[in-house]
Amino acid sequence: MFITFEGIEGTGKTTQIKKLVKFLEESGHNVDVTLEPGGSRIGKELRKILLNMESTDITGQCELFLYLADRAQHVSQVIKPALEAGKIIISDRFADSTIVYQGYGRSLEPLLLRELNEVAVSGCWPNLTILLDIEPELGLRRATTRNMDENKTLEEGRFEAESIDFHSRVREGYLTWAALNNDRIKIINADQTPDEIFSQIKEKVLEALQKRDA
Ligand code: TYD
Repeated sequence: MFITFEGIEGTGKTTQIKKLVKFLEESGHNVDVTLEPGGSRIGKELRKILLNMESTDITGQCELFLYLADRAQHVSQVIKPALEAGKIIISDRFADSTIVYQGYGRSLEPLLLRELNEVAVSGCWPNLTILLDIEPELGLRRATTRNMDENKTLEEGRFEAESIDFHSRVREGYLTWAALNNDRIKIINADQTPDEIFSQIKEKVLEALQKRDA
C-alpha cells in the first residue's frame, strides 16, 4: 500500500504523517515514511540544489528533470523495495507535486508531465493521495514561521520565496488535478484542528485498506 501526502507549503503534512504512522503501527501494520525531494542518498544531493535560495539561475526544464531524477532513484531504491516487503509506505510529496508545481505553477503542460512521470514512477502510482488544502496566505505564513524557527530560510526557502500568485496557481492546480483523479486523490480541508484533520484522513485510509483487502 502506497500513500502520498500533497499540498502547498504550511498545510501540516508532517504532523499528519506522524499521526498516521502512529495509528497504523498501533493497528499492527509495518510502515515506512519517506519524502521528496531527498528520499534517497543521491536524492539528498538533488534536494540541496532544488531548494537552496541560491539556485536562482536554475531553468524550469532543469528543475523538472532534477525532480524526475530524484523520483526515479527514490522509487527504485526506497518505494519498490518497501512495497515488495509488504509494508505500507507513506511519502511526503510525490509525482503529483511535479504535475502541479512544474505544470500548473510554472506553466509546463500537465499531461506531458504525467507522461514524463510514468518513466520515473515505473508503475508505482500511489493507491491513495491525501491532498491537504488551505488558503495560500495562511499556508505561507505557517511555512515561513517554521523555516525561521528551524533556521532553514536560505537552505530550503526557494519555493516559500515565490510570489503569492505562484502559490495560488499551485493551490488551484492541486484542486483541478484532484478533480481529474478523484478516485485516488482525496481533498481534506487543512484549516481545521489537527485532530479534526486526522479523523478525516483516517477514514480515507481505512477505506483504501478495505478496498485493497476486498
Ligand atoms: P519541502 O521543504 O519538502 O516543502 P514542504 O514542507 O512544503 O513539503 O520542499 C519541497 C518543495 O519542492 C516544495 O516547495 C514543492 C517543491 N516540489 C516541486 O516543485 N516539484 C516536485 O516534484 C516536488 C516533489 C516538490
